[in-house]
Amino acid sequence: MAVQRTFSIIKPDATARNLTGAINAIIEKAGLRIVAQKRIRMTREQAETFYAVHKARPFFGELVDFMISAPVVVQVLEGENAIAKYRDVMGATDPSKAAEGTIRKAHAKSIGENSVHGSDAPETAVIEIAQFFSGNEIVG
Ligand code: CMP
Repeated sequence: MAVQRTFSIIKPDATARNLTGAINAIIEKAGLRIVAQKRIRMTREQAETFYAVHKARPFFGELVDFMISAPVVVQVLEGENAIAKYRDVMGATDPSKAAEGTIRKAHAKSIGENSVHGSDAPETAVIEIAQFFSGNEIVG
């Protein structure tokens, strides 16, 4: 498997509890390299664009309100098989179903306030990275 890049967000529930470093330690221990990172306050427009695929879901409004409620840390992670690897490291979307040793098992509060996001496929990784980073901000 080739080296890939994936997009990650450390979400408001985690930044609010000062967990950026703890989450980054889990990411790095798993062998993923943080090749870009910035702390931002997402705008409503950015959050609605990012989660447009979920627009028809009943939780869409709640999801957007949550994502703009406090700062987030957006990241690009690089490594062998990075997309699948980061999804393993994050654990299940619902933290009550997440495996031991995963970020969500250790830190997530609920299915909505689940501490991290990671891209689900190579095509979405490219789109998500491009929404928040220009090429010269990513240093591998
Ligand atoms: P994420 O990987 O960022 O992608 C979509 C997000 O929607 C997901 O993580 C959850 O945080 C959120 N989500 C999924 N299901 C629900 C739900 N039933 N209620 C609230 N939020 C949800």
